[in-house]
Amino acid sequence: MADIQSIEYCRDDFPALSERVHGKPVAFLDTASSAQKPNAVIDKMSEVMRFHYANVHRGLYRFSQMTTAEYEAVRGKVADFIHASSEHEIVFTRNTTESINLVAASWGGANLKAGDEIILTQMEHHANIVPWQLLADKTGFVIKVVPVLDDGTLDMTTYQSLLSNKTRLVSVVHTSNALGTINPIGKIIADAKAFNPAIMVMVDASQSIVHGAVDVQAMGCDFLAFTGHKLYGPTGVGVLWARAEILNAMPPYQGGGDMIERVSFEGTSYKPAPIRFEAGTPSFVDVIGLGAAIDYVRTIGAENIVAHETSLLDYAMREMESIDGVQLYCPAKHKAPIISFTTTWAHISDVAMVLDQCGVAVRAGHHCCMPLMERFGIDGTLRASLGLYSNKSDIDALISGLSKAKGMLS
Ligand code: ALA
Repeated sequence: MADIQSIEYCRDDFPALSERVHGKPVAFLDTASSAQKPNAVIDKMSEVMRFHYANVHRGLYRFSQMTTAEYEAVRGKVADFIHASSEHEIVFTRNTTESINLVAASWGGANLKAGDEIILTQMEHHANIVPWQLLADKTGFVIKVVPVLDDGTLDMTTYQSLLSNKTRLVSVVHTSNALGTINPIGKIIADAKAFNPAIMVMVDASQSIVHGAVDVQAMGCDFLAFTGHKLYGPTGVGVLWARAEILNAMPPYQGGGDMIERVSFEGTSYKPAPIRFEAGTPSFVDVIGLGAAIDYVRTIGAENIVAHETSLLDYAMREMESIDGVQLYCPAKHKAPIISFTTTWAHISDVAMVLDQCGVAVRAGHHCCMPLMERFGIDGTLRASLGLYSNKSDIDALISGLSKAKGMLS
C-alpha cells in the first residue's frame, strides 16, 4: 500500500496533482465538486480488482469471503468515523443524492401526509429539494423554506417561526456547497427537538464531513448523508446513517437481491437494516475504496486538515479582496474553504475559461443551488474550493489568473 504522509507532504500522495494543464502546473480548486484521489485509494481498489475480485455476500469461496469481509469492515470504519453507535446504522448508497431519495421515498413515503409540513432552507442543494418535491406532489405535504440573509447565513429567527405543530421533518445542509457557510447545526437540531421531540432532522453532510469531524450522536440528528467522492474516495458510493430503530421501522426503498429474507409469489419478507436498503450488487469496490479514503483522512487528522485549510482560506480571502471588481458571496465567519464570487468585469464562464488556460480549475455556475442563486439575483458564481492537498501556489495561480482575466476581459 502507498505511504501515507503528513499534511505538509500529502500533495505527493495525489498523482493527478503533478499533471500539467495547458503546459502549466494544475491548480485544482474544485474539490467541493469532487476531490482528487490519493494513491492509498487507487491502490486499494486496484488490489481488490487484481487479486481477489468477487461479488459480496454471494460466494462460499475464498475471493468472495475476502471481498465481503473488506466490504463489511468499511461499515464499521464509517460508523467509527461519524461516531455512530453501531455499523448496523450504516447504509451504503450511490451518493448523497441517493441517500436523501432513500429517506424521502421510504421514511417520507410512510410518514408524511397531506397537511404535514417539512422545513428546508434556501441554500439547499437540489438533492435536498427535488426528492421532497417529488414526494410532496404525490402526498400533498407542504415545504417551508428558511431564507438566507444577505451575509450568506440562515435566517434563524424565521426558522424558529416556521416550526409548528404540523412540522414533521427539518432537512438541512450542514455546510453550503455554494457559499461555504457552516450552519449552526447543533442549534437547528436542538430548536426542532425542543419544539417537538418527534420532529425528525436530516443533515446533508456532503461538504462538512470533508472539513472536520462529524459526530452524529453529539449532533442529535436522525438521518445524515454524505458521499464518498468528496471525501477523497471513489465515485459510486455514498452513506446514509440513521439510528437502528428508525432504519428498521422503514419500508424497503428498492427491491431486489440480497435485501430479502424469503421471496415467494404469496409474499416476500425483508432483511433488517442496513442490508434491507442495499438491493442488488452493491458498488463494493467503491465501498472498499471509501474505507481506504477514511483511513487516509484519519491518518492526516481532522484537526490538521482544518488548521491547514483555514490558514490557506485566510490567505486566499485577503488576496481576493485586493482584486478590484470581485464580489464575494461567502459569510465573513464560520465558513468552509469555499470561495464563491462574481466579477463586475466579465461573465463567470468567460473568467473560468481564462482560468483554465492558466491551469486553474474552478467551478462556474449555479452549483446545483438555483433557489440560492435566485435569492442573490445572479445566475451563478465562480467557486474556488480547497482540500487538504491545496497549497499557496494554487491560490497564487488563481490570483494571477484572475488578474490576467481582468486584463483580457474588462
Ligand atoms: N455538489 C457538487 C458541487 O457542489 C457537485 O459542485
